[in-house]
Amino acid sequence: MSINRRTDRLGVHSIGEFSMTVPSLKEAQAFYSTFGLDVLGEPGGLALRTHGHPHIWGRLREGAMKKFERLTLHCFEDDLPALKRHIESQGVALLAPPDNAQDPSGLWLRSPDGMLLQVRAGAKTTLDASAHQSPALPVDGAPCAPYRRHAQPVRPTRLSHIALTTGSVSQQADFYIRVLGLRMSDHSGDGVAFLHAPHGGDHHLVALAASAGPGLHHLSWDVPTVDDIGLGAMTMSAAGYKEGWGVGRHVLGSNYFYYAQDPWGSFCEYSATIDYIPASANWKGKDHPPEDSFYLWGPDVPPALFAYSEAGAWA
Ligand SMILES: [Fe+2]
Repeated sequence: MSINRRTDRLGVHSIGEFSMTVPSLKEAQAFYSTFGLDVLGEPGGLALRTHGHPHIWGRLREGAMKKFERLTLHCFEDDLPALKRHIESQGVALLAPPDNAQDPSGLWLRSPDGMLLQVRAGAKTTLDASAHQSPALPVDGAPCAPYRRHAQPVRPTRLSHIALTTGSVSQQADFYIRVLGLRMSDHSGDGVAFLHAPHGGDHHLVALAASAGPGLHHLSWDVPTVDDIGLGAMTMSAAGYKEGWGVGRHVLGSNYFYYAQDPWGSFCEYSATIDYIPASANWKGKDHPPEDSFYLWGPDVPPALFAYSEAGAWA
């Protein structure tokens, strides 16, 4: 068994990309650029990349309202036939690709919430081993912090996870686990669930949070250290993106965070040093009381964090 692949667990290994409509591509360009992403024009919309990384993590098109439209998940190429058989054996219908699919390959299906999913053979964008860094520590007799004028722009390195809202956390979690092979990392009753990929990756690839209905809650982008989170929070605030939550530290996943609210009510998270679950680990997901499930420290939670920001159902 390769350390980065379980032969005893069939399932997707990574996020490929997402697509979303937003009310204004111009506002999107400004927000995601300020956040530290590379925002590139492409026919019909914008593509989101992390700096120095050729992978396109997200595609944005202009629409009447913000709507998270599609999630593409990647699997190993030689797992695709078995995944097809498995998905069908679970009573989930496979669909024709949508007419506007840039890449119609792989398998197309809908989650119980109606969100369109594509499972295709693709690059493993989850890490094959953890790569944690600490903020620089002082050396005796020398200053440690850089001068503020020398502070570098924050550049997220990769998309860590996507958090979706739903009217039924348990139903969605069951689908992602039973049909697509994700694993339960931790949950708190039916309030929130964190799922990881079986072939090595962050504590959560997909998070599910109870809300009034289905939609995007946040996109979480990995940065090296909590120092980058603080700098990112300051950058967003200075650019006029004042609404957010953090800096703080989560309990489940252990990551440091700052959530910047996007112009359409959902969030982009700066996340650092999230727990890593290697392929070799047999992680035991637990049910945690609410007070242990959310954050260890941080500012009071603003009501906007729980406001439902999506405009209705998918299907
Ligand atoms: Fe998150």
